Amino acid sequence: MNMTVNGSAVEMPRDPRVSLLDYLRDHLHLTGTKKGCDQGACGACTVLVDGQRILSCLSLAVQLQGRSVTTIEGVGQPGHLHPLQQAFVDHDGFQCGYCTPGQICSVLGMVAEIGRGVPSHLTLDLEAESIALTPGELRERMSGNLCRCGAYNGIVAAIAETYVEGPLPEAVE
Ligand code: FES
Ligand code: FES
Repeated sequence: MNMTVNGSAVEMPRDPRVSLLDYLRDHLHLTGTKKGCDQGACGACTVLVDGQRILSCLSLAVQLQGRSVTTIEGVGQPGHLHPLQQAFVDHDGFQCGYCTPGQICSVLGMVAEIGRGVPSHLTLDLEAESIALTPGELRERMSGNLCRCGAYNGIVAAIAETYVEGPLPEAVE
């Protein structure tokens, strides 16, 4: 059985030890997904598997038979940016850009999690039908994606513009 990457079926690696991150970058030459720490600490390698965000450095490619992987190359293309990508550009949500593919994939996964009602550490009402993307929720849910350039204000502004109606309140929970 194959897996799907950005809509195309790809063969599984022969070596069962290869991580999804190395498979994407070294075998499929999809180098948009970045290797930061290679040990689950930085979020630079975040991709989507069946719409859920995962750390590709901690996943073996062979575990994903039959699954659908989306990398940053499948989110948007030059000239056809995803609205979130455009917002990152508009709000200076990056400096070197190394963390950005992981940030964007993580945001897409985060928004889907909120849509499914998945609580975060900060969510008080675990039975709420909808969870507001407050500043605290946003920062908590994105806390696994580090930016060494410290572009956090721009990242928050880009996410807020794309997914929050009206201005993001200043209150800190
Ligand atoms: Fe995967 Fe840092 S490279 S979390
Ligand atoms: Fe440089 Fe985030 S933009 S690490």
